[in-house]
Amino acid sequence: MRILAIETSCDETAIAILDITGPREKPDIKILGNSLLSQIHIHEEYGGVVPNLAKREHQKNLPILLEKTLKEAGGNSESPDIEIIAVTQGPGLEPALWTGITFAEELGKRWSKPVMGVNHMEGHIFSVLPNASEGLKLPALALLVSGGHTELVRIKEFESYEIIGKTRDDAVGEAFDKVARILGLGYPGGPKISKLASEHRASGLPLNIKFPRPMISSNDLDFSYSGLKTAVLYKVKEMVSITKDQKAEIARAFEDAAVDVLIEKTRRALETDEEVKSLIVGGGVSANKFLKERLVKLVELFPHVTLHLPSQNLATDNAVMIGIAAYIRRNTGTDHIASTGIKASGNLKLS
Ligand code: KG4
Ligand code: ZN
Repeated sequence: MRILAIETSCDETAIAILDITGPREKPDIKILGNSLLSQIHIHEEYGGVVPNLAKREHQKNLPILLEKTLKEAGGNSESPDIEIIAVTQGPGLEPALWTGITFAEELGKRWSKPVMGVNHMEGHIFSVLPNASEGLKLPALALLVSGGHTELVRIKEFESYEIIGKTRDDAVGEAFDKVARILGLGYPGGPKISKLASEHRASGLPLNIKFPRPMISSNDLDFSYSGLKTAVLYKVKEMVSITKDQKAEIARAFEDAAVDVLIEKTRRALETDEEVKSLIVGGGVSANKFLKERLVKLVELFPHVTLHLPSQNLATDNAVMIGIAAYIRRNTGTDHIASTGIKASGNLKLS
């Protein structure tokens, strides 16, 4: 099935054309075209994403990316060789989501192709499939870690999700971004914190700071990251001036605390559910090197569990994962898919 996929839920505009065949647990995924324009430089000065600026940029970028992706895939914009258009419906920023949906529906009308709304988090889950050479075995546990989500999801079978743990306040990616802002490192914070933290680990300098691990001992699988961010803020406020080494030490102490909680809750979820065969980790924070190292060590304790991570370019937002999630949802052909009237849903849940 040839799919044109569109992603505009936050600050990346992305379009991909995929050719996917085969069973859902082990599809053959060919990426025929894939382009992305990041708006990071535009939102950077505001310290976070500004929804209406994102909308304006998506509107500007979508036609450019469409031409580019079609060209890469060897098609033309009059009658491209695709069967279905997939577009992110939510969760995300509604003004940004609407831009993608309107664009997708116009293309659907122009080309007489069905349009399908896709859940962005389902995209993050299946972003691991291009890397899963042996296929994906269910039931699986997914740890979803992004700018808006921190969730543990049990995937019993395809299209059957149960959220067994989630953040009660900030998402872990949001905490990375806020701590980076406190340290004056800019947006998005994840990669910047991660770089400083690993430099500090490699330097051999002592680690004299320890931040709290919120909810690490709570009797559930929930998370909380707002207190950790506040602990960093207080630490920085009590320092008169702050050197580069001290920034790196804070970044490392923060990353240690943030990752410890993710690992401990995931460990507990795996321990209490012996049926789980796969651990999927998706969302922007899954690009974090330290988290990946800790996950590799974690699954060594569970020999019956295979760890699935996305490749670096599919960890953060992209359109390839939206196309794959559409394929997973395709069920029996495209007849059942509504081609118009898709509604953006900022809080869309996995169901
Ligand atoms: O999935 P994503 O691209 O967008 C959302 O759906 O939110 O995730 C973006 C988040 C940001 O908070 C960003 O700081 C974080 O992922 N991130 C990272 C890394 N790369 C991106 N966090 C930690 N370490 C990284 N290397
Ligand atoms: Zn995302």
